[in-house]
Amino acid sequence: MTDPANSAGGVSAGTTYNLVFVPGDGIGPEVIAAGRRVLEAAGRLHDFDFRWHEILIGGVAIDAYGVPMRDEDLAACAAADAVYFGAIGDPKYDDPKAKVRPEQALLALRKGLGLYANLRPVSVQPVLRASSPVRESLLEGVDMMIVRELTGGLYFGKPSGQTDGPNGREVVDTLAYTEHEIRRVVKLAFELARGRRKKLTSVDKANVLSSSRLWRTIVEEVKVDYPDVTLEHRLVDACAMTLIQRPAVFDVMVTENLFGDILSDEASVLAGSLGMLPSASIGEKRTAHGLHGLYEPIHGSAPDIAGKDIANPIAAILSGAMLLRWSLGQIAAAEAIERAVTAVLADGYRTSDLLSTTGDATGLKPVGTQAMGDAVVAALESSGHARIPAEGGERAAASSGGVR
Ligand code: IPM
Ligand code: MG
Repeated sequence: MTDPANSAGGVSAGTTYNLVFVPGDGIGPEVIAAGRRVLEAAGRLHDFDFRWHEILIGGVAIDAYGVPMRDEDLAACAAADAVYFGAIGDPKYDDPKAKVRPEQALLALRKGLGLYANLRPVSVQPVLRASSPVRESLLEGVDMMIVRELTGGLYFGKPSGQTDGPNGREVVDTLAYTEHEIRRVVKLAFELARGRRKKLTSVDKANVLSSSRLWRTIVEEVKVDYPDVTLEHRLVDACAMTLIQRPAVFDVMVTENLFGDILSDEASVLAGSLGMLPSASIGEKRTAHGLHGLYEPIHGSAPDIAGKDIANPIAAILSGAMLLRWSLGQIAAAEAIERAVTAVLADGYRTSDLLSTTGDATGLKPVGTQAMGDAVVAALESSGHARIPAEGGERAAASSGGVR
């Protein structure tokens, strides 16, 4: 499985892909609208297009249907080539006593589609080093892939919930894993490390948690098949510190669901903003074109800035590039989007999140969500003639840099 995105058959010209489009809540609809325009532009340039099926999931679905996700919408996601997702969550459902919450839909979607691995690449655009509160010299060489286990652990373990006990209210959440659940995500992480700098960091809390001790044991067992990959174990608390002190030491990191949720938000600080980091959620299922998957920014619905056209759409745009790479095998188009994002940032375009931490904003171009999307589309189109259409070129690109 050295080339997961392409091994199902690769690129075919003129293909129409079936994508489910899930705007969701808060800033979701804005960032993903910009991302969709970028995907469509990439399709025009690389000779494919999309059939979009839009559905409501999250707070908007509770409002419309009374449930965070309807069964038929889960079925539509399962039947599509991939799911392109905005964000979920609405403060109006934050009441801890609420019976239904928007986030339940995202968890049910991940579980229902068998998307056990969440890939969160973290790199720092050189021109954004000044946007990070972390000292610039520490950001040199930061390029990691966080592999977050996504359908087990604390998010799904049973029992979970609150009861009334003899001494008052009691509550429990359970960190449960089967051997199979650990092994498959760890194996994927080793595969990814093999295609990159060949270093894997497994993150756990083995000095306290039994679940982490089995996790560590299985990582060591899987390691036997990857003698070319250097393995290290780190405890999650110390790892959180190293992530800021020496972020460039990481290549691939694999960890339990909640640990990965927390560490990836922390890692986004390196990239300058939570609005920069994309993600791909994948499992075992393949379509005719690649791995079935769900693609979403790692950020949430940011209700405080929703509807103002100020959110950063780059995480959504880069999630679209991951969709092309992993689910559709359109490696050249994915790379073109990534280059266009780099070009636009180098040109000085900045949404407000990227400006707030920058000391000197001279020469920068403040833009809103849709204008940032337009700038990426324009950069894509202006570089369009430079693409490599040959299938050989696509495959070479896939095997060298496809696992990102
Ligand atoms: C993420 C988010 C989600 C999660 C929320 C919205 C349920 O924080 O994708 O990281 O915790 O997985
Ligand atoms: Mg999160």
